[in-house]
Amino acid sequence: MKNLVNILIGLFLILSTTLTAQNLEFADLLQNINSRQNTSLNGKWDIIVDPLENGYYNHRLLPKDNGYFKNAKMTSPSDLIEYNFDISFQLDVPGDWNTQMDKLYYYEGTVWYKKDFTYHANSDKLAFLYFEAVNYEAIVYLNGERIGSHVGGYTPFQFEVTNKLKEGDNFVVVKVDNKRKKENVPTVNQDWWNYGGITRSVHLITTPKSYIKDYSIQLPKGNTTTIDGWVQVENSKDGDAVTINIPELKKSVNSILKNGIAKFSVKAKPVLWSPYSPKLYEVIIKTPTDKLTDHIGFRTVATDGSKILLNNKPIFLKGISIHEEAPFKTGRVTSKEECKILLKWAKELGCNFIRLAHYPHSETMVREAEKMGFMIWSEIPVYWTVQFDNKDTYANAQNQLTEMISRDKNRAAILLWSMANETPEGEARLSFIADLAKQARKLDNTRLITAALDTQGKGNDGNLIEDPLGTIVDVIGINNYCGWYAGAPETCPDIKWASKYNKPMIMSEVGGGALYGLHGNKNERWTEEYQADVYKKNIEMMRNIKFLAGLSPWILMDFRSSRRPLRRIQDDFNRKGLISEQGMKKQAFYILKDYYNNENN
Ligand code: GCU
Repeated sequence: MKNLVNILIGLFLILSTTLTAQNLEFADLLQNINSRQNTSLNGKWDIIVDPLENGYYNHRLLPKDNGYFKNAKMTSPSDLIEYNFDISFQLDVPGDWNTQMDKLYYYEGTVWYKKDFTYHANSDKLAFLYFEAVNYEAIVYLNGERIGSHVGGYTPFQFEVTNKLKEGDNFVVVKVDNKRKKENVPTVNQDWWNYGGITRSVHLITTPKSYIKDYSIQLPKGNTTTIDGWVQVENSKDGDAVTINIPELKKSVNSILKNGIAKFSVKAKPVLWSPYSPKLYEVIIKTPTDKLTDHIGFRTVATDGSKILLNNKPIFLKGISIHEEAPFKTGRVTSKEECKILLKWAKELGCNFIRLAHYPHSETMVREAEKMGFMIWSEIPVYWTVQFDNKDTYANAQNQLTEMISRDKNRAAILLWSMANETPEGEARLSFIADLAKQARKLDNTRLITAALDTQGKGNDGNLIEDPLGTIVDVIGINNYCGWYAGAPETCPDIKWASKYNKPMIMSEVGGGALYGLHGNKNERWTEEYQADVYKKNIEMMRNIKFLAGLSPWILMDFRSSRRPLRRIQDDFNRKGLISEQGMKKQAFYILKDYYNNENN
């Protein structure tokens, strides 16, 4: 008997240790910062443009480091200090620098940002500096002391700064460098503008000493009558209680913390989240010292042969691709209002699905899309020819994937994690993406894994999907530009499609370009009539793809790209939008809208 007890204790310890280890796989990020006490550091930041890296001394080598991060001030009239933030230029945060200052339009290099702020210490609190995104590399200094760095332009990062803050006046300096490098993710070539800067919001967040750091609350795969998950509490004591309360379901669950983790499972029959009923439940998580409120949807997603199942029923994904380009002002999206404009246009189009290309969009965009009932494809920028044989590049990609999943794992609307876009076939690329897929499944075994492949039409002999990536993903994304990059529009309807894989296909990109207001006949490139005809002919083609489970044509709105210089037509914009960046709908918008509203998928 004694042996059996020892075995059971051992098993429990392994389980709880495993659970702890599993949770520690997530990024070091506060979950659901909207629910936190939060001082915004948004607004005007002082800046110094530094193309020659003049302000970044390697302070380990210099006896007296006087890099810009010291924010040094003259103490005597003879002092030589060749910089001064206080009389320097300013930029808005959040925001890219390219569209804020003419002389920074093409700038790729370092800009130093500085912000003064006041803090009143509270011995019962911890304090965190939380950045929603900085493109591309950030080195952060607080009161002249380096506190950390981050690489990757589209995912959040944070630093615990409790003991580095001063009572009263403080200043934070961020060195932002958006230079493209071969080893980066994305690499040096991309078809979108390399907007640099502190492009999303910055927060000073305080928590109790023992605080709810992270949690995952959802339906287990394939199960619609159980809600389970875990809560991670930092600086907690074994045996402390955690309560998870879902008032509308009249469910309140108690669990006990062990090594900082409390698991739970409860029978429940929630109204399932779907585009037709995007139901979110208030979920209140409490510990003896902390409380967080989130709004979580419950649904299941799976595939069955070539079908995508939402809540065990086949659903056709009527989508559109979206870049994080702001309507009207252009540049990076920086506000909830801009997110809502883009989503309103997608709703007008008749969409139930959006592909957030080619990188994780803001948490605001994901939450607003979820409230409006859009299913989401979320993607990391493993785009085109990244260095698949470079282990540091892989580590960077895996880190961005982990940060994306850590931040959004409680967002029911996200059905698909996309590992890559249009990566050239090869052994190194296959194992690179296979490893990313494995990491994604380890962090989240409930969602579908996908990637967009580049398959150009080969004319009438048709397209066979045989990329070995098809063995790794759950859903195969295909980017195909029949009528634009390959073949004339009239060749598209006859193209036959086949697949080696019995898996759903999403036409993740299809379409063509037009300058809003340019008219002519349908064989004249760049006219709205040409673009409309490309859509008509590709819709005819897609009707014959039996294993098509959805589409996200390229793209909702024209977006800025350095690859699109054609004067008077592109003027630095990729014109494949169904809507111009000034909000003007092109003829093709109505072609796709008609297909979505009348397709009986
Ligand atoms: C590619 C790529 C997009 C690009 C588009 C285009 O498929 O995935 O990022 O913008 O085609 O050429 O317009």
